[in-house]
Amino acid sequence: MILGLETSCDETAAAVVTGEGEIRANVVASQAALHASFGGVVPEVASRRHLELVAPVVRGALVEADATLDDVELVAVTAGPGLIGALLVGLSAAKALAWGRGLPLAPVDHLHGHVASLYLEPEPLDPPFLGLLATGGHSLLLDVRDRSGYRVVGTTIDDAAGEAFDKGARLLGLGYPGGAALDRLAADGDPEAYDFPVARLDGLDFSFSGVKTALLYAVRGLAVDELERRRADLAASYQRAIVRALVSRTRAAAEELGHDRIAVVGGVAANSELRASLPDAALAPLALCTDNAAMIASAARFVEPLAPPAYLDLDAHAAA
Ligand code: KG4
Ligand code: ZN
Repeated sequence: MILGLETSCDETAAAVVTGEGEIRANVVASQAALHASFGGVVPEVASRRHLELVAPVVRGALVEADATLDDVELVAVTAGPGLIGALLVGLSAAKALAWGRGLPLAPVDHLHGHVASLYLEPEPLDPPFLGLLATGGHSLLLDVRDRSGYRVVGTTIDDAAGEAFDKGARLLGLGYPGGAALDRLAADGDPEAYDFPVARLDGLDFSFSGVKTALLYAVRGLAVDELERRRADLAASYQRAIVRALVSRTRAAAEELGHDRIAVVGGVAANSELRASLPDAALAPLALCTDNAAMIASAARFVEPLAPPAYLDLDAHAAA
């Protein structure tokens, strides 16, 4: 059994996954409410909360799995990218757990973790495929040939897709993080009401700053009561523009690289319109789209683990 830990942003998460990729426990303590009044994640506040939550969350995962530390054979932890202080809490906890039991430790790349959310039971996906990874921090097109990694073939030149959703949600007066709330509001709106531009770049990169600015101007141009009436239309049109950009680039990349399989992972993969727009794609299960530790434990199965004491001086890294 693999014990996975994830603390790269504002979710404190622990999971127990078997070597075959069966999830025995997947516990996520979200700090979203804690950061909501600040309109975004406050790194120092996140680190402190991870420190308070990491032991109870690990304990919770073991209880849920009906297991004890005696059953754990490998500890997996996110080493980066993410908030450095937040990462260090998870990494230190993982080192302590592994060292105390003489267990190996697998440092996992958070983005590899998102991709590995596709490799879990009951419907594990087999590479090769073209991956779209869309989160609050990244929008990447990935050439995935095997389960041990990926090659980045496209990225965003400005905002990530999740960031664009969050900023749009903020403009529409929805809370933080607003992606899911915008998705819900959009369901009551007309996606054709506004024509927001989708940036057309050469190559396989994304850009979301233009559509965000277009929404800003549309919002500014409306009186308060009018804005209230058009909010759902604005949300639906904005979502449509982002999803169209994601879908068209992803299909173009798949064609260019000769992949007949598309897979979508990350928080934005939970978006209802994106899921509906790619009916033939492999979509990460809803519970595994946003940050969790089951995906980290899953990725650890395809990473070379470090034996004790080799991991004691392992460092977290903020950048990818
Ligand atoms: O993967 P994730 O939990 O964290 C990062 O690694 O960044 O992704 C979080 C992002 C946030 O920007 C959130 O607003 C977005 O995923 N998100 C959504 C939806 N659910 C979460 N965006 C659009 N529609 C959703 N239903
Ligand atoms: Zn993530």
